[in-house]
Amino acid sequence: MKKIATLLLTLSTAIVYAQHDAKKGFKFAENQTDVLLKATAEAKSKATKPNLVTPRTLDSQGNLVLIPSRDWVSGFFSGELWYLYEYTHNKKWQEAAKDFTAKIEPEQNNGDSHDVGFKIYTSVGNAYRLTNDAHYKAIIITAAKTLSTRFNPAVGCIKSWDGRKEWPFPVIIDNMMNLELMFAATRLSGDSSFYKIAVTHANTTLKNHFRPDYSSYHVIDYDPAMGEVRHRQTHQGYADESAWARGQAWGLYGFTMCYRETHDKKYLVQAEHIAQFILNNPTLPADKVPYWDFNAPGIPNEPRDASAAAIMASALYELCTYSGTNSKLYRATADKIVNSLTNNYTAKAGESQGFILLHSTGHKPAKSEIDVPISYADYYYLEALTRQERLAKGEHVIKP
Ligand code: GLY
Repeated sequence: MKKIATLLLTLSTAIVYAQHDAKKGFKFAENQTDVLLKATAEAKSKATKPNLVTPRTLDSQGNLVLIPSRDWVSGFFSGELWYLYEYTHNKKWQEAAKDFTAKIEPEQNNGDSHDVGFKIYTSVGNAYRLTNDAHYKAIIITAAKTLSTRFNPAVGCIKSWDGRKEWPFPVIIDNMMNLELMFAATRLSGDSSFYKIAVTHANTTLKNHFRPDYSSYHVIDYDPAMGEVRHRQTHQGYADESAWARGQAWGLYGFTMCYRETHDKKYLVQAEHIAQFILNNPTLPADKVPYWDFNAPGIPNEPRDASAAAIMASALYELCTYSGTNSKLYRATADKIVNSLTNNYTAKAGESQGFILLHSTGHKPAKSEIDVPISYADYYYLEALTRQERLAKGEHVIKP
């Protein structure tokens, strides 16, 4: 009896804390997003190019950077609007989400890179999840067909980028994220070809992208005819043999999601190995927001990457529901990350053109987007807050 009472007390305390975090985080996010919507409308009205449709980041002067739908980041802002709608049920966010999603929809036919998965699943994927509208369902299936055209059976992977002479067939760890679109398309269409491609890609990545300590390279370049590995590199990280923080986050999220979709234990084992690499890394700071690369030479005087932290938190909330012995650790770490981001990484109210989180690092070796707000950090932060609260209520982390 006493044990049950203690358990109930622990559960209700968890719900109260999570609801408090989510309430605080979403309230702030709503206010900031009002600012960002206004700033976006203003920037659009002044833009010389009509195809700039959605916000990405701030430039070095603090001006809002708008991007066209073809940019890999274009789906995240509409995804944030869908998360605001999911939490608040406020139709205002639904209307804005529909508007911004519509601007990304043409990307369903853009097979120029693997990013069709990122763009369509964060925007249209959330739209379909929350509305069940057949219009969105059709787009998900078309986008998966587009992504399938980049699959090479000799390699066993979807090709990430085109037009880089030095890499005939580059596959980046980020590409694991695009598999979610493929699994969804098989569920929605009954066509198993998308599922088969996703599983083959995940298996090839599992075989070739990881080091013995379960950190991952960023880019594996394959021979497109024979399927053999040509090079292993870390393009956006400090060095080829270093562990680029966001890459580790993509891998963690990707293999956790693959386990959800397939129930194949090897993906869960891989996700847990990646989690252990991250959590046991001696350079992971006490607030659990990583430096931009786990091997960055100047740690602790290196920029953090709040985006990597947000992706990790969201992934760990899901992973903790599948893991046995480490479940509590993963959930506590995700809570710590969310708490750190909410209390120490947010913009000042009404500032930074309405972005939510500061201190992300986009591409440090290219000297691009260092210590900035960026929309994919905000997207995964809102996703993590949503998952935290659903978990506390005993619901699956993703609303079906
Ligand atoms: N997918 C590109 C990046 O994570 O920067």
